[in-house]
Amino acid sequence: MRLPFFFIALLFAADSIAQPFMLPKLPYAYTAYAPNIDAQTMEIHLTKHHQAYVNNLNKAIKGTAFESLSLEEILLTLPANGADAIRNNAGGHYNHSLFWEILAPKSNQGPCGESLTEAIKASFSTVDSLKKVIFSAAMSRFGSGWAWLMLTPNGELRVVSSANQDNPIMNFSVERGIPILGIDVWEHAYYLNYQNRRADYLTAVWDLVNWSVVSQKYDAAKSNTNLRSRLNSTKKNKKKGQ
Ligand SMILES: [Fe+2]
Repeated sequence: MRLPFFFIALLFAADSIAQPFMLPKLPYAYTAYAPNIDAQTMEIHLTKHHQAYVNNLNKAIKGTAFESLSLEEILLTLPANGADAIRNNAGGHYNHSLFWEILAPKSNQGPCGESLTEAIKASFSTVDSLKKVIFSAAMSRFGSGWAWLMLTPNGELRVVSSANQDNPIMNFSVERGIPILGIDVWEHAYYLNYQNRRADYLTAVWDLVNWSVVSQKYDAAKSNTNLRSRLNSTKKNKKKGQ
């Protein structure tokens, strides 16, 4: 049976709003990421930490203007001050959802696509140089945060890091872009197995990056001219206001 067009449109609209927000499922079993990341860390990270961001986000937006917005729209419009619970938990939900998507056990990883391979070559020369830049951003992030590979509004690849659960989509971030790869450098991501050895965790998690998914995200970000222009226009407005 064919679904009428308006019904299909309604399903997509409902999905893009997707309230209340829900915890995504991991694409693989908790045990599949070992030995790089142990099963207990994966399970606690998803079902305790990420779940807490989801629960607290749903609680924080209840009865506010953010209640009817998509996650991306919340990040694009939330204020820098006065909405810390939404900022931390919307960021936490967005960042972790991306993190789970881009990780895969070695046997399930696909190759880097042609367009991302070319872009990495243009901006960093080699994947190994890119790895060094990301590791440096991750190692120098004091305390908790994230290291990102993102596409800038001008269509270039750039590595940045952010504190806590902030990310480059947020409207007050200094360097903005669409994240295509994110590395969680909160201690909860590695402490059980690596304790304070962040560098060892970074080496291990890098080997879990599924470049075919990162490539899909790169291609989608390139095509998303609407979001790129919104990221760019907010930046220009900030400059005008300075
Ligand atoms: Fe985390």
